[in-house]
Amino acid sequence: MAIQLSHCSSSSTTFSSLHHETSYFSKWVTEIHFRRQLRNHFELKSANGYPLNAVPMQDGSVAKPLEEEVPFPEFGETNSMLSITVVGASGDLAKKKIFPALFALYYEDWLPENFVVYGYARTKMTDEELRNMISKTLTCRIDSRENCQAKMEEFLKRCFYHSGQYNSPEDFLELNCKLKEREGGKLSNRLFYLSIPPNIFVDVVRCASTKASSATGWTRVIVEKPFGRDSDSSRELTKCLMQYLTEDQIFRIDHYLGKELVENLSVLRFSNLVFEPLWSRNYIRNVQFIFSEDFGTEGRGGYFDNYGIIRDIMQNHLLQILALFAMETPVSLDAEDIRNEKVKVLKSMKPLQLEDVIVGQYKGHSKGGKSYPGYIDDPTVPKDSVTPTFAAAALFINNARWDGVPFLMKAGKALHTKRAEIRVQFRHVPGNLYKRNFGTDLDKATNELVLRLQPDEAIYLKINNKVPGLGMRLDRSDLNLLYRTRYTREIPDAYERLLLDAIEGERRLFIRSDELHAAWTLFTPLLKEMEEKKIMPELYPYGSRGPVGAHYLAAKHDVRWGDLTGED
Ligand code: BG6
Repeated sequence: MAIQLSHCSSSSTTFSSLHHETSYFSKWVTEIHFRRQLRNHFELKSANGYPLNAVPMQDGSVAKPLEEEVPFPEFGETNSMLSITVVGASGDLAKKKIFPALFALYYEDWLPENFVVYGYARTKMTDEELRNMISKTLTCRIDSRENCQAKMEEFLKRCFYHSGQYNSPEDFLELNCKLKEREGGKLSNRLFYLSIPPNIFVDVVRCASTKASSATGWTRVIVEKPFGRDSDSSRELTKCLMQYLTEDQIFRIDHYLGKELVENLSVLRFSNLVFEPLWSRNYIRNVQFIFSEDFGTEGRGGYFDNYGIIRDIMQNHLLQILALFAMETPVSLDAEDIRNEKVKVLKSMKPLQLEDVIVGQYKGHSKGGKSYPGYIDDPTVPKDSVTPTFAAAALFINNARWDGVPFLMKAGKALHTKRAEIRVQFRHVPGNLYKRNFGTDLDKATNELVLRLQPDEAIYLKINNKVPGLGMRLDRSDLNLLYRTRYTREIPDAYERLLLDAIEGERRLFIRSDELHAAWTLFTPLLKEMEEKKIMPELYPYGSRGPVGAHYLAAKHDVRWGDLTGED
């Protein structure tokens, strides 16, 4: 990233006396492992059974508005400063996820001693207004210690706002001046979180990199999807970003990789002897990646219509999980070793064909006296839209481990339930001695391993078991690891983990450009063909189990959807 020494007007604040950046100017620090410097490590307390991350304060209150002239907290001894700038600070994602995740990290002592948070957006707002805005979405964990309110206020004192245009170098230069003042001459590390629409990514990166890069420490940029709409636009975006940033500075976030059970996938496989030997075509009959939401695209129709469920969920979240699931054992847990293995999986896959996919779109539905709108009832969606809100797909990995094993994906909005899970269905037991006890449907007797990513995280294995008694009756039972009963600790939100990783320079859970390219290569021909042919989605009622086409697709590959067997 270009290093720009800005000509900031020297403002006479208490910080200017601390300026001595020239002594640090020659240092370019790329990796600073704050996690080692932190105080109370990983004492996240329990909130089992509650939604991910956090809940509002128990008394329903929000932090009090702070006085206009809030004294900036004293700096700690550490001679470095982290500045986090959330670009697009007034947007939904920033309010609902990013600021709360930053607060949670602060609350749990994961952030370095010296840090500031800047909100950047076009809206005119004072620091105070920003604080009021974000204080409404900051939450304390359910078992919040008594000092939550105080911690919230301390956190808010470190939050500031800068209003500017996204394509204005001058506005970013002003931000740079403000950051420098706050940094007070300490070694500065700067993280920019781009929580903005993709059409302005490059403008922001250009302005931020040329005008507001750190002159003394590292500068990193977290980018949210969509990373393009297809191979060409994604490649173009990468090319443009690389004019201003190195690959190492770009953190492409896929928040599914930050989910606890996705992190655990590798632990499960590589640290338990009982799983890894079974992890191949020899024992696994098919694998299913299922995402469903029980609400529609309300309020997001404008964005969604240009992308559709395949780009919104499959090409990134589900495919990333698939790659982690199917990769070979990496040489080490280093980011590059893991990402190398993931890329190999993606490159071993056959690009999707139209016949491998079925698509659906939800329609309005009335139930219990309540009516639910159809996708095209959204005023921001064209009435003749054929954008899929549901898709199911069968993918194959052409390598020695997975040859012939269907990897099925299913993703849909406005379905009957909200959940995300991985289901691994095993083969029949050869020469099963107990065949007679299962009746004619042997599929019902196969083992199934389920990783429920959300809600109510769990890992369970369906086994056949003898019903106690003198007879010989078998049933299906679960060996069940239900997180809420096993662990008393609250599960952090995915954004907390990923933000912390970006601060630490840990890239394992971020998408490298070649991974992204390989992912688009798999989906682009299909997406193009669907758009050219205007493939009509099968309509399904809001709140239903989705289009029947999904069953036919699975049946074609001799598979049954594990989530629809009625067994769970
Ligand atoms: C986002 C998608 O990436 O993930 C949304 O754009 C979707 O459409 C969301 O609702 C789901 O995330 P989560 O963590 O709530 O399952």
